[in-house]
Amino acid sequence: MENKLKILFAAAECSPFVKVGGLADVAGELPVKLKELGADISVVIPGNKRIVAKTQYITDFPVEMGWRKETCILRQIIDAPVDTYIIDNYQYFDREEVYGHIDDAERFAFFSNAMLQLILRMDSKPDLLHLNDWHTAPIAMLMRENEQKYPVLSETSILYTIHNLEYQGISGKDVFRLFSVNDSAFSVEKTEYYGSFNAMKAGINYADLISTVSKTFSKDILTPEYGYGLDGVLRDRATIIKGVTNGIDINNWNPEADKAIYFNFSRTNPAAKKNNKTRLKKELGLDNISSKDAPLFSVISRLVPNKGIDIMPPAFEAILKNGGQLIILGSGDKHYEGIFTELTRKYPGQVSVNIEFDANKARRIFAGSDFLLMPSKYEPCGISQLIAMRYGTIPIVRRVGGLAETVIDESKYKGQGTGFSFVGYSEEAFKRSINKAMRVYHDKKAWPGLVKRAMNADFSWDKAASEYLCLYKETNEMNDQRKSEGRT
Ligand code: GLC
Repeated sequence: MENKLKILFAAAECSPFVKVGGLADVAGELPVKLKELGADISVVIPGNKRIVAKTQYITDFPVEMGWRKETCILRQIIDAPVDTYIIDNYQYFDREEVYGHIDDAERFAFFSNAMLQLILRMDSKPDLLHLNDWHTAPIAMLMRENEQKYPVLSETSILYTIHNLEYQGISGKDVFRLFSVNDSAFSVEKTEYYGSFNAMKAGINYADLISTVSKTFSKDILTPEYGYGLDGVLRDRATIIKGVTNGIDINNWNPEADKAIYFNFSRTNPAAKKNNKTRLKKELGLDNISSKDAPLFSVISRLVPNKGIDIMPPAFEAILKNGGQLIILGSGDKHYEGIFTELTRKYPGQVSVNIEFDANKARRIFAGSDFLLMPSKYEPCGISQLIAMRYGTIPIVRRVGGLAETVIDESKYKGQGTGFSFVGYSEEAFKRSINKAMRVYHDKKAWPGLVKRAMNADFSWDKAASEYLCLYKETNEMNDQRKSEGRT
């Protein structure tokens, strides 16, 4: 095909090579779908010790970091489903953890500077740069602030996607000085934030178009409650903020073919799901006689505040007191890890707490549970609720962000729901929703229909990917308009 749209997609993590959260799933799945739809797309990620894939050396080049020079080693992952490149540097990226280092701002400043150099070195420039979250956001600033020096950069349009607004990459002006841009870029209209450099703000102010990972979230972030201090900046850009709700890779998340689960099952034959539950309970020591008909609730999540950990303990007690069973899989906040572990002593045989992340165990839990709990404080999109539904596990979620638009509340829309949702962020509201869910679970007539509807819901990437293609077109148009008006 001629005139394919040439896209460079940059993210800090990408499944299956290196994953911390949902960003990796999007970076690993969306580009594959876009390629299928005819886009000429390449993905660029930073190096990491945990990347196990085979790679080949492509080239290396110097990257200016203020007055210093560092070396970027460019490698390509062999046999990746779309061309995937690694920007590497031993000092910055030869580490186990993707994030959480004291010098994160500097590490991603290097990544951004290296991206600019990479683009300048490309024979045919990308039509569009798709940047994601704060780690890659300074690239937008570098592209636009260097246009006078390198006019060719203006040909590339920029879409900036916000997956998580809470993490903004705020650092001192010393980090800003690592970028070769004019001092005027460190202004309140651009990147300055209470005397600091805010990478997220750079993405918001320099991109041609901004998107968020659900439609609800694109509106939520304009309010002080969910704007994380940037709601004013975002309101100024409100007309160019769009929402595209994430999908999931339905081949990867497929109960009919999933090799990690005990028994495969499908929407036409959901009976085998019960056998998964039986085996899962045995695996986790939840298989005592009295628990035979007990509803099985699960949490598969990083145990961090935005996932709603503080309203979980009282709700869990209520579940366990009412004879339900509970599985927790995930790690994070040490205090809450302790509280959850304590439950195993208080309710032996009723709760299994697994402070770890084991991808195959997660799959067995998705397959064998009756309910998935996701009482998030905020949730840009959320992926686990989509996976749960595909595996016939009913999500109980807070009606916020992507959760609001992907889960239909059965208690509100009887006979049409795909899960349960509640509005207020409180343990009481969460508990009420759980109680309603338990009643439907024990209603032998209503329950199978609910499970079937959840499994029938379509969250494949097809829809989202074609929406992104429209956004790419719009981004290009915005860039053309910008150039004709002579704006940076
Ligand atoms: C972030 C968000 C999550 C979203 C994911 C992928 O992890 O917190 O809601 O699903 O990014 O976009």
